Amino acid sequence: MKALVYDGPGNIEYREHPMPTLHDDTDIVMRIAQSTICGTDAHIIKCGVPTVQPGTVLGHEATGIVTEVGGSVKNVKPGDRILAVCVSACGYCRFCTSGLYGQCLNGGWALGNTLDGVQAEYARIPFARNSVYKIPDNLTDEQVLFLTDILATGYEVGVLNGRVQPGDTVVIVGAGPVGLSATLTVQLFSPRNIVVVDRVAGRRETALKLGATHAVDEHEVHAVVDQLTDRLGADVTIEAVGFLDASELTADLVRSGGRIANIGVHEGTSDPAPGEAVGQAGHHHHRHPVRVDHLAADELHRHGRAGRHPDDHPPDAPRRDRGRVRHLPALRGNRGPEGRPDERVSSGRTP
Ligand SMILES: NC(=O)c1ccc[n+]([C@@H]2O[C@H](COP(=O)([O-])OP(=O)(O)OC[C@H]3O[C@@H](n4cnc5c(N)ncnc54)[C@H](O)[C@@H]3O)[C@@H](O)[C@H]2O)c1
Ligand SMILES: [Zn+2]
Ligand SMILES: [Zn+2]
Repeated sequence: MKALVYDGPGNIEYREHPMPTLHDDTDIVMRIAQSTICGTDAHIIKCGVPTVQPGTVLGHEATGIVTEVGGSVKNVKPGDRILAVCVSACGYCRFCTSGLYGQCLNGGWALGNTLDGVQAEYARIPFARNSVYKIPDNLTDEQVLFLTDILATGYEVGVLNGRVQPGDTVVIVGAGPVGLSATLTVQLFSPRNIVVVDRVAGRRETALKLGATHAVDEHEVHAVVDQLTDRLGADVTIEAVGFLDASELTADLVRSGGRIANIGVHEGTSDPAPGEAVGQAGHHHHRHPVRVDHLAADELHRHGRAGRHPDDHPPDAPRRDRGRVRHLPALRGNRGPEGRPDERVSSGRTP
């Protein structure tokens, strides 16, 4: 089969790769129909992420058709159309039993990281009982494709962790697919202002189409937030980039007592310098330094995502707004012309 293989920082190749087979009786093998390209893939390709070994197939969010099932898999059968979750959850470890599937001790974020991922013709999905879902007949692949990583991350790690309230002024730094997902889903909580920051004009335009009230670059944003908040600062700032300067921007723009939600998986991390606190960036178990002396907020929310499953509806989410988020196909416009990762809009740091 063909797959997109990571060969170390700066190198990927779409080439022949061995077909996946069942290893455990809890596995399935699926034929991939659609998969997403996450900013995390871009981080891996550009700078490397320590857990991803050269030779690994990238990709961690996909739809497709089940081709083989292990002996103990009961929830799907060959021929079923499914969504594969970016997090593989064993279901019985300390973290799975408390609903923190992203931190699963036996799986977690494994696809396209410690195991071959889904940017391939076929993929093996471990712990299928908790990690794949049948797609209802009345929904297309494209309508559900973003539900396990990109949309869920913008919503859970950004909007829910930022505890957005009606009337808030919210700043979202980064208008990639994840920042745009936060832009869409933050509207469920009726903020007064949604200020999106990005360097790329096309992404700012998309943010406005999806409901941002303002879309500016990082030089214009201070004046806009000052004017909207009478110089108090934003109630909530959301980092959806993964670089230190974007983190600092979220800290500069938040008001005292406001909330910062960090989504980005940060590059060039590991050892924090003296005076830096360490936060956890989501399901990627990645540590990143945050300059505490820059933080104006006395309340910080930089928790990673719980890695909830699509059928766990958060109790505080507004159920009556079901059906309001119906612009997902617009996020596709952020891929390169062929949807290949090497053609993505650059995040502005590397050529
Ligand atoms: N925590 C999690 O579970 C989780 C899950 C998925 C993605 N992520 C992370 O979320 C981040 C965003 O993902 P994505 O797919 O949207 O990535 P992306 O690279 O497509 O988007 C990042 C955007 O930020 C913009 N940008 C770069 N520097 C900026 C700056 N200083 N100010 C303003 N904008 C700037 C870029 O122009 C780009 O549009 C990545 O770091 C990714 O690894 C985290
Ligand atoms: Zn991802
Ligand atoms: Zn587990």
